[in-house]
Amino acid sequence: MLEYGDHKHLAHCLSTETGQRVGPSMSEHALIVRNLTKSYGSVRAVDGISFAIRRGAIFCLVGPNGAGKTTTMEMIEGLKQPDSGEIVLLDMRLPQELGRAKQMIGVQLQTTGLFERLTAGELVNLFRSFYARPVPAADVLKAVSLETKSDQLVSQLSGGQQQRLAVALALVNDPELLFLDEPTAGLDPQARREVWRLIQSMKQREKTVFMTTHYMDEAEKLSDEVAIIDYGKIIAHDAPRNLVAGLNKANVIEFSTDSDVTDNQFSGLRSVSAATVLNKNVVLYTTDVKECLVDVLNLSQSLSFEIKDMQFRNPSLEDVFIELTGRMLRE
Ligand SMILES: Nc1ncnc2c1ncn2[C@@H]1O[C@H](COP(=O)(O)OP(=O)(O)OP(=O)(O)O)[C@@H](O)[C@H]1O
Ligand SMILES: [Mg+2]
Repeated sequence: MLEYGDHKHLAHCLSTETGQRVGPSMSEHALIVRNLTKSYGSVRAVDGISFAIRRGAIFCLVGPNGAGKTTTMEMIEGLKQPDSGEIVLLDMRLPQELGRAKQMIGVQLQTTGLFERLTAGELVNLFRSFYARPVPAADVLKAVSLETKSDQLVSQLSGGQQQRLAVALALVNDPELLFLDEPTAGLDPQARREVWRLIQSMKQREKTVFMTTHYMDEAEKLSDEVAIIDYGKIIAHDAPRNLVAGLNKANVIEFSTDSDVTDNQFSGLRSVSAATVLNKNVVLYTTDVKECLVDVLNLSQSLSFEIKDMQFRNPSLEDVFIELTGRMLRE
């Protein structure tokens, strides 16, 4: 298991290798995006979005499948051409200064077709050859706990190991701004935590991270700022704690039922401030848990539905998404 010390070691190697530093003359933002738009045929994948990421921040773009996360990211990385809009990446305008900007960013793509017939080490060295002052291959592999896999063919790595190798490839140039598109998708809990630590170590070194995820808990835990994207539009953008505080809902009661209950049956209760029912899963917001419990039990008697797997919790980012869209992210 990778410890913090390993990342510090990597940090030392990385900073002495390239000597790149964020100077005081640079602007406060690592990325500024204005009115970015892209359609595929009749599908408006990205619909006029604007946002900025402060230097040194961990920024998380969250949203359901097909919301436009990858399209947004790939336009900023210079891989897809926007229909319209402005992008300023590390004080460089795109697409005019893309060549220079590319030297300073690291990109992990969502679907990486890795060269399966190379070994992990060979693949890292291939990517290192694209840059003037690459980080030593061993340090890059160590950062994702693959130091023992250098001589193994990529095709013989597990899915999770390939995923981590894709993250490693984004680190070979010690980027100022790291793009990670669902870096923890498909990883087991331990590997997920390792990627989290890697992301946090970037922040400790004053680097900027732009990531996407499906996991609201991950976004809430890791990021300084979260933007929620839905149907190509950013519908909320703030620090996670501000987004949750903005809900102004003290407690959440969640349970499943065995019959087709509806939102209205619950939102009519005096103790319930809001209710969402999806696939027989009921989410209730209340400021009075006790009273709400009594109300729910009474209702279960009168409508004769079963209550299963009841949970009590504090509101989370997931609830912000439900409030804004009337849907659950994990639908
Ligand atoms: N190359 C393409 N051609 C046509 N439509 C596309 C293409 N790429 C994406 N789309 C469509 O654009 C929309 C946004 O897709 P995008 O991949 O950006 O979403 P996403 O938020 O990254 O989703 P996911 O969480 O599944 O990765 C979707 O409706 C998708 O079907
Ligand atoms: Mg995507």
